[in-house]
Amino acid sequence: MEVIIRPTDHAAAELIAQIIATELRANPHLVLGLATGRTMESVYRVLVRMHRKEDLDFSLCSTFNLDEYVGLGPGDPHSFRHYMNEHLFRHVNIDRRNTHLPDGRAPDLDAECRNYEAAIARFGGIDLQLLGIGQAGHIGFNEPLSALRSRTRVKSLAPLTLEQNAATFGGEANVPRRAITMGVGTILECRRGLLLATGAEKAEIVAKAVEGPITSMISATALQLHGRCTVVVDEAAASRLEGFEYYRRIFATEPEWEQFRNLQ
Ligand code: GLP
Repeated sequence: MEVIIRPTDHAAAELIAQIIATELRANPHLVLGLATGRTMESVYRVLVRMHRKEDLDFSLCSTFNLDEYVGLGPGDPHSFRHYMNEHLFRHVNIDRRNTHLPDGRAPDLDAECRNYEAAIARFGGIDLQLLGIGQAGHIGFNEPLSALRSRTRVKSLAPLTLEQNAATFGGEANVPRRAITMGVGTILECRRGLLLATGAEKAEIVAKAVEGPITSMISATALQLHGRCTVVVDEAAASRLEGFEYYRRIFATEPEWEQFRNLQ
């Protein structure tokens, strides 16, 4: 795992988008794993800008989202499919047939989960997986006690997750109780992981995820097992990290990051 600290949430999102753009330019057929949530909105804004102003081309890439609420269809404004359409897909030249999210209204949810895994495999696996982190430490909707080898499945949402998503749904009672999510094991198979966390409210969970012991109570800690995972945080989200100065030096001095140092 490597941790990159940027001064602001804007700079952190800009770096994430630049990493995605660099990988997409190097491999136009990139299989991109995508995430939802407020944190990701600024990443998608930058990607849309890059498409418009710098000809960033999405025409050959494919995407797989981490999760979807059970019971919500694409027309529902709270569905993650709707989120993706609004924040990214309709603004760039991606072929919608190559964009994938689990179908939260599938009549047979277990079959839907198996099919999702099969589709990821058919596309050759995920090259670059974008991840956020929930306040309970989940990646996707891998709530506490998610097995570190879990695959795509239906998960019951934890109280903290319901609380965190309450505002979006106009009250906790309206938040769906279950979601289909890629498993921790599914996520760990991506070739590169890229986690973004911003804001002081994520500082404590980021410190646990990055520097704490690996535990199924906090599924993000499983990323410590991944051979190539980059965690990008702003200073607020980094504030509880013991290795703050060390991580800062890595971005400032390692040759890999040179091309990204001049970003605002
Ligand atoms: C949801 C999503 C996660 C996301 C998390 C953080 O629970 N399933 O994938 O990482 O929210 O959201 P936010 O960026 O709004 O804090």
